[in-house]
Amino acid sequence: MRTIDWVDGAVVIVDQTRLPGEEVYLRLTSVEELVEAIQRLAVRGAPALGVAGALGVALAAQQGGDTAQRVRLLETARPTAVNLSRGARRAAALLPSFDAVLAEALRIRDEEIANSAAMARRGADLVERLCGSSARLLTHCNTGGLAAVVEGTALAVVFELHRRGSLAGVIASETRPLLQGARLTAWELRRAGIPHRLAVDSAGPFLMARKEVDAVILGADRICANGDVVNKIGSYSHALGARAAGIPFICVAPESTVDLATASGHDVEIEDRGAAEVAGGTAPAGTDAVNPAFDVTPAELVTAVVTDERVFSGRADGADGLTVG
Ligand code: MRU
Repeated sequence: MRTIDWVDGAVVIVDQTRLPGEEVYLRLTSVEELVEAIQRLAVRGAPALGVAGALGVALAAQQGGDTAQRVRLLETARPTAVNLSRGARRAAALLPSFDAVLAEALRIRDEEIANSAAMARRGADLVERLCGSSARLLTHCNTGGLAAVVEGTALAVVFELHRRGSLAGVIASETRPLLQGARLTAWELRRAGIPHRLAVDSAGPFLMARKEVDAVILGADRICANGDVVNKIGSYSHALGARAAGIPFICVAPESTVDLATASGHDVEIEDRGAAEVAGGTAPAGTDAVNPAFDVTPAELVTAVVTDERVFSGRADGADGLTVG
Protein backbone atom coordinates (compact mmCIF):
# COMPACT_ATOMS: atom_id res chain seq x y z
CA MET A 1 0.00 0.00 0.00
CA ARG A 2 1.30 3.47 -0.91
CA THR A 3 0.01 6.27 1.31
CA ILE A 4 0.20 8.75 -1.53
CA ASP A 5 0.65 8.35 -5.27
CA TRP A 6 -0.20 9.78 -8.67
CA VAL A 7 -2.87 7.77 -10.50
CA ASP A 8 -4.43 8.80 -13.83
CA GLY A 9 -4.12 12.55 -13.41
CA ALA A 10 -4.94 12.68 -9.69
CA VAL A 11 -3.20 12.54 -6.33
CA VAL A 12 -4.51 9.47 -4.53
CA ILE A 13 -4.16 9.29 -0.75
CA VAL A 14 -5.43 7.05 1.99
CA ASP A 15 -7.56 9.29 4.20
CA GLN A 16 -5.74 9.04 7.53
CA THR A 17 -8.56 10.71 9.42
CA ARG A 18 -10.75 7.66 8.76
CA LEU A 19 -8.25 5.11 10.08
CA PRO A 20 -8.34 2.71 11.81
CA GLY A 21 -12.07 2.31 11.27
CA GLU A 22 -12.14 2.54 7.48
CA GLU A 23 -9.51 2.37 4.72
CA VAL A 24 -10.79 5.02 2.34
CA TYR A 25 -8.84 6.34 -0.65
CA LEU A 26 -9.38 9.87 -1.96
CA ARG A 27 -8.77 11.08 -5.53
CA LEU A 28 -7.69 14.71 -5.42
CA THR A 29 -7.70 16.57 -8.71
CA SER A 30 -7.05 20.16 -7.63
CA VAL A 31 -4.52 21.96 -5.45
CA GLU A 32 -7.36 23.32 -3.37
CA GLU A 33 -8.58 19.78 -2.54
CA LEU A 34 -5.04 18.66 -1.71
CA VAL A 35 -4.38 21.67 0.54
CA GLU A 36 -7.60 20.97 2.41
CA ALA A 37 -6.54 17.31 2.83
CA ILE A 38 -3.13 18.41 4.16
CA GLN A 39 -4.67 20.86 6.62
CA ARG A 40 -7.11 18.36 8.10
CA LEU A 41 -4.31 15.75 8.27
CA ALA A 42 -5.88 13.34 5.79
CA VAL A 43 -2.30 13.14 4.52
CA ARG A 44 0.38 13.88 7.10
CA GLY A 45 3.92 13.02 8.25
CA ALA A 46 7.00 14.82 6.96
CA PRO A 47 8.11 12.61 4.03
CA ALA A 48 4.51 12.11 2.85
CA LEU A 49 4.03 15.88 2.95
CA GLY A 50 7.10 16.34 0.78
CA VAL A 51 5.63 14.03 -1.83
CA ALA A 52 2.26 15.75 -1.47
CA GLY A 53 3.81 19.17 -2.04
CA ALA A 54 5.56 18.00 -5.19
CA LEU A 55 2.57 16.12 -6.60
CA GLY A 56 0.48 19.18 -5.80
CA VAL A 57 2.62 21.23 -8.16
CA ALA A 58 1.85 18.65 -10.86
CA LEU A 59 -1.83 19.26 -10.15
CA ALA A 60 -1.22 23.01 -10.42
CA ALA A 61 0.52 22.56 -13.79
CA GLN A 62 -2.37 20.43 -14.96
CA GLN A 63 -4.99 22.92 -13.74
CA GLY A 64 -3.40 25.94 -15.44
CA GLY A 65 -4.43 29.45 -14.34
CA ASP A 66 -2.52 31.09 -11.50
CA THR A 67 0.10 28.41 -10.92
CA ALA A 68 2.37 30.59 -8.76
CA GLN A 69 -0.45 31.33 -6.33
CA ARG A 70 -1.31 27.62 -6.08
CA VAL A 71 2.33 26.75 -5.41
CA ARG A 72 2.31 29.28 -2.56
CA LEU A 73 -0.86 27.66 -1.16
CA LEU A 74 0.90 24.30 -1.15
CA GLU A 75 4.13 25.56 0.38
CA THR A 76 2.30 27.20 3.27
CA ALA A 77 -0.46 24.67 3.89
CA ARG A 78 1.33 23.62 7.09
CA PRO A 79 4.42 25.46 8.37
CA THR A 80 6.51 23.08 10.47
CA ALA A 81 7.59 20.07 8.40
CA VAL A 82 10.27 21.34 6.03
CA ASN A 83 9.52 18.58 3.52
CA LEU A 84 6.29 20.22 2.36
CA SER A 85 7.74 23.51 1.15
CA ARG A 86 10.91 21.79 0.00
CA GLY A 87 9.00 19.26 -2.13
CA ALA A 88 6.76 21.94 -3.60
CA ARG A 89 9.71 24.20 -4.46
CA ARG A 90 11.75 21.40 -5.99
CA ALA A 91 8.90 20.49 -8.33
CA ALA A 92 7.98 24.13 -9.01
CA ALA A 93 11.49 24.81 -10.31
CA LEU A 94 10.46 22.79 -13.39
CA LEU A 95 7.30 24.73 -14.18
CA PRO A 96 5.65 25.30 -16.58
CA SER A 97 6.32 21.82 -18.02
CA PHE A 98 3.74 19.42 -16.59
CA ASP A 99 5.79 16.41 -17.70
CA ALA A 100 8.97 17.67 -16.05
CA VAL A 101 7.14 18.58 -12.81
CA LEU A 102 5.43 15.20 -12.60
CA ALA A 103 8.70 13.38 -13.29
CA GLU A 104 10.38 15.32 -10.47
CA ALA A 105 7.50 14.63 -8.08
CA LEU A 106 7.67 10.91 -8.83
CA ARG A 107 11.43 11.05 -8.29
CA ILE A 108 10.80 12.53 -4.81
CA ARG A 109 8.29 9.72 -4.15
CA ASP A 110 10.83 7.09 -5.20
CA GLU A 111 13.61 8.73 -3.19
CA GLU A 112 11.46 8.58 -0.05
CA ILE A 113 10.77 4.90 -0.68
CA ALA A 114 14.52 4.26 -0.96
CA ASN A 115 15.19 6.46 2.09
CA SER A 116 12.92 4.28 4.23
CA ALA A 117 14.88 1.17 3.34
CA ALA A 118 18.23 2.86 4.06
CA MET A 119 17.05 4.26 7.42
CA ALA A 120 15.61 0.87 8.39
CA ARG A 121 18.97 -0.86 7.92
CA ARG A 122 21.07 1.83 9.55
CA GLY A 123 18.63 2.39 12.42
CA ALA A 124 18.26 -1.32 13.18
CA ASP A 125 22.05 -1.71 13.30
CA LEU A 126 22.23 1.17 15.78
CA VAL A 127 19.43 -0.13 18.01
CA GLU A 128 21.01 -3.60 18.08
CA ARG A 129 24.31 -1.99 19.06
CA LEU A 130 22.74 0.13 21.83
CA CYS A 131 20.01 -2.19 23.12
CA GLY A 132 21.03 -5.73 22.22
CA SER A 133 18.89 -8.29 20.45
CA SER A 134 15.63 -7.93 22.37
CA ALA A 135 14.83 -4.22 22.32
CA ARG A 136 11.84 -2.72 24.12
CA LEU A 137 11.13 0.55 22.32
CA LEU A 138 8.83 3.48 22.94
CA THR A 139 7.66 5.49 19.95
CA HIS A 140 5.56 8.63 19.58
CA CYS A 141 3.14 9.90 16.94
CA ASN A 142 3.11 7.94 13.67
CA THR A 143 6.23 7.40 11.62
CA GLY A 144 5.21 4.39 9.55
CA GLY A 145 4.28 3.96 5.92
CA LEU A 146 1.38 6.33 6.49
CA ALA A 147 3.78 9.17 7.27
CA ALA A 148 6.05 8.41 4.33
CA VAL A 149 5.10 6.44 1.23
CA VAL A 150 5.87 2.91 2.44
CA GLU A 151 7.51 1.64 5.67
CA GLY A 152 8.31 5.10 7.10
CA THR A 153 11.14 6.39 9.29
CA ALA A 154 11.33 5.31 12.96
CA LEU A 155 8.69 2.65 12.36
CA ALA A 156 10.70 1.36 9.39
CA VAL A 157 13.46 0.65 11.92
CA VAL A 158 10.92 -1.12 14.14
CA PHE A 159 9.74 -3.26 11.19
CA GLU A 160 13.35 -4.15 10.34
CA LEU A 161 14.17 -5.09 13.95
CA HIS A 162 11.09 -7.32 13.97
CA ARG A 163 12.22 -9.00 10.73
CA ARG A 164 15.65 -9.58 12.31
CA GLY A 165 14.11 -11.06 15.48
CA SER A 166 15.67 -8.26 17.56
CA LEU A 167 12.53 -6.65 18.91
CA ALA A 168 10.80 -7.58 22.15
CA GLY A 169 7.97 -5.09 21.75
CA VAL A 170 6.85 -1.52 21.28
CA ILE A 171 5.02 0.97 23.46
CA ALA A 172 3.14 3.48 21.30
CA SER A 173 2.23 6.71 23.04
CA GLU A 174 -1.24 7.77 22.01
CA THR A 175 -0.26 11.31 20.86
CA ARG A 176 -2.84 13.73 22.04
CA PRO A 177 -4.82 15.46 20.72
CA LEU A 178 -5.27 13.79 17.32
CA LEU A 179 -4.13 10.32 18.44
CA GLN A 180 -1.76 9.46 15.60
CA GLY A 181 -0.18 6.89 17.94
CA ALA A 182 -3.42 5.27 19.05
CA ARG A 183 -5.13 5.34 15.65
CA LEU A 184 -2.32 5.00 13.12
CA THR A 185 0.75 3.49 14.78
CA ALA A 186 -1.31 0.85 16.59
CA TRP A 187 -2.97 0.03 13.23
CA GLU A 188 0.36 -0.31 11.43
CA LEU A 189 1.95 -2.38 14.23
CA ARG A 190 -1.06 -4.70 14.35
CA ARG A 191 -0.96 -5.24 10.57
CA ALA A 192 2.75 -6.08 10.85
CA GLY A 193 2.13 -8.54 13.70
CA ILE A 194 4.43 -6.64 16.06
CA PRO A 195 3.81 -6.98 19.83
CA HIS A 196 2.75 -3.58 21.11
CA ARG A 197 0.93 -1.78 23.89
CA LEU A 198 -0.59 1.67 23.93
CA ALA A 199 0.18 4.19 26.69
CA VAL A 200 -1.05 7.67 27.43
CA ASP A 201 1.59 10.24 26.48
CA SER A 202 2.34 11.22 30.07
CA ALA A 203 3.13 7.60 31.02
CA GLY A 204 6.27 7.59 28.85
CA PRO A 205 8.81 9.06 31.27
CA PHE A 206 7.46 6.95 34.17
CA LEU A 207 7.69 3.73 32.12
CA MET A 208 11.28 4.67 31.28
CA ALA A 209 12.05 5.32 34.97
CA ARG A 210 10.55 1.91 35.77
CA LYS A 211 13.02 0.35 33.30
CA GLU A 212 10.34 -0.90 30.91
CA VAL A 213 11.85 0.87 27.90
CA ASP A 214 15.34 0.38 26.42
CA ALA A 215 15.20 3.31 23.98
CA VAL A 216 12.88 5.96 22.57
CA ILE A 217 12.68 6.04 18.78
CA LEU A 218 10.72 8.63 16.83
CA GLY A 219 10.74 10.80 13.72
CA ALA A 220 11.10 14.49 12.94
CA ASP A 221 9.38 17.23 11.02
CA ARG A 222 12.53 19.30 10.83
CA ILE A 223 16.08 18.84 12.03
CA CYS A 224 17.86 22.15 12.39
CA ALA A 225 21.49 22.97 11.63
CA ASN A 226 22.41 22.76 15.33
CA GLY A 227 20.78 19.32 15.63
CA ASP A 228 17.57 20.43 17.39
CA VAL A 229 14.74 18.03 16.55
CA VAL A 230 11.32 19.49 15.85
CA ASN A 231 8.67 16.78 16.12
CA LYS A 232 5.17 16.05 17.37
CA ILE A 233 4.23 17.66 20.68
CA GLY A 234 5.19 15.26 23.46
CA SER A 235 8.55 14.31 21.96
CA TYR A 236 10.41 16.69 24.28
CA SER A 237 8.80 15.11 27.38
CA HIS A 238 9.95 11.69 26.19
CA ALA A 239 13.46 13.08 25.61
CA LEU A 240 13.58 14.45 29.16
CA GLY A 241 12.32 11.10 30.45
CA ALA A 242 14.95 9.24 28.44
CA ARG A 243 17.74 11.47 29.76
CA ALA A 244 16.54 11.03 33.35
CA ALA A 245 16.37 7.24 32.88
CA GLY A 246 19.73 7.09 31.09
CA ILE A 247 18.39 5.45 27.94
CA PRO A 248 18.99 6.42 24.27
CA PHE A 249 16.71 8.88 22.50
CA ILE A 250 16.94 8.15 18.76
CA CYS A 251 15.50 10.24 15.97
CA VAL A 252 15.06 8.70 12.50
CA ALA A 253 14.42 11.01 9.56
CA PRO A 254 15.57 11.33 5.95
CA GLU A 255 18.02 14.01 4.82
CA SER A 256 14.97 15.66 3.19
CA THR A 257 13.91 16.59 6.75
CA VAL A 258 17.30 18.09 7.64
CA ASP A 259 17.15 21.86 7.22
CA LEU A 260 20.59 23.43 7.41
CA ALA A 261 19.08 26.82 6.53
CA THR A 262 17.35 26.90 9.92
CA ALA A 263 19.86 27.55 12.68
CA SER A 264 17.96 26.12 15.65
CA GLY A 265 14.54 25.07 16.89
CA HIS A 266 13.89 28.65 18.03
CA ASP A 267 13.70 29.64 14.36
CA VAL A 268 10.97 27.16 13.40
CA GLU A 269 7.34 28.15 13.10
CA ILE A 270 5.40 25.79 15.34
CA GLU A 271 1.90 25.19 14.02
CA ASP A 272 -0.82 25.94 16.59
CA ARG A 273 -3.94 24.04 15.57
CA GLY A 274 -6.42 25.94 17.69
CA ALA A 275 -8.50 25.22 20.76
CA ALA A 276 -11.15 22.88 19.37
CA GLU A 277 -8.82 19.86 19.01
CA VAL A 278 -7.87 20.07 22.70
CA ALA A 279 -10.93 21.42 24.46
CA GLY A 280 -13.75 20.49 22.09
CA GLY A 281 -16.18 17.95 23.47
CA THR A 282 -14.49 17.64 26.87
CA ALA A 283 -13.91 21.01 28.51
CA PRO A 284 -16.74 23.42 29.37
CA ALA A 285 -18.01 25.18 26.23
CA GLY A 286 -15.91 28.24 25.45
CA THR A 287 -12.75 26.99 27.19
CA ASP A 288 -9.69 28.34 25.43
CA ALA A 289 -6.64 26.15 24.84
CA VAL A 290 -3.10 26.37 23.62
CA ASN A 291 -2.35 23.70 21.04
CA PRO A 292 1.21 23.60 19.68
CA ALA A 293 1.28 20.65 17.28
CA PHE A 294 5.06 20.24 17.61
CA ASP A 295 7.85 20.82 20.09
CA VAL A 296 11.62 21.20 20.01
CA THR A 297 13.96 18.65 21.54
CA PRO A 298 17.34 20.32 22.02
CA ALA A 299 20.23 18.53 20.31
CA GLU A 300 21.91 17.75 23.63
CA LEU A 301 19.03 15.42 24.55
CA VAL A 302 19.27 13.48 21.28
CA THR A 303 21.54 10.44 21.45
CA ALA A 304 21.64 9.96 17.68
CA VAL A 305 19.92 11.03 14.48
CA VAL A 306 19.66 8.31 11.84
CA THR A 307 19.15 9.45 8.26
CA ASP A 308 19.29 7.62 4.95
CA GLU A 309 22.95 8.69 4.65
CA ARG A 310 24.46 8.85 8.13
CA VAL A 311 24.16 8.56 11.88
CA PHE A 312 25.15 11.64 13.81
CA SER A 313 24.88 13.25 17.20
CA GLY A 314 25.21 16.93 17.91
CA ARG A 315 25.03 19.36 15.02
CA ALA A 316 23.38 18.34 11.75
CA ASP A 317 25.75 20.51 9.72
CA GLY A 318 28.75 18.55 10.99
CA ALA A 319 30.37 21.69 12.38
CA ASP A 320 31.19 19.85 15.61
CA GLY A 321 32.49 16.76 13.82
CA LEU A 322 30.31 14.33 15.74
CA THR A 323 29.19 12.16 12.81
CA VAL A 324 28.99 8.61 14.10
CA GLY A 325 28.91 6.63 10.87
O1 MRU B 1 0.90 16.53 12.71
P1 MRU B 1 1.49 15.34 12.03
O2 MRU B 1 0.73 14.08 12.29
O3 MRU B 1 1.77 15.59 10.58
O4 MRU B 1 2.91 15.16 12.74
C1 MRU B 1 3.76 14.16 12.25
C2 MRU B 1 4.92 13.93 13.12
O5 MRU B 1 5.19 14.68 14.04
C3 MRU B 1 5.80 12.79 12.78
O6 MRU B 1 6.43 12.30 13.93
C4 MRU B 1 6.88 13.27 11.82
O7 MRU B 1 6.34 13.91 10.70
C5 MRU B 1 7.74 12.16 11.40
S1 MRU B 1 7.03 11.36 10.01
C6 MRU B 1 7.88 10.01 9.60
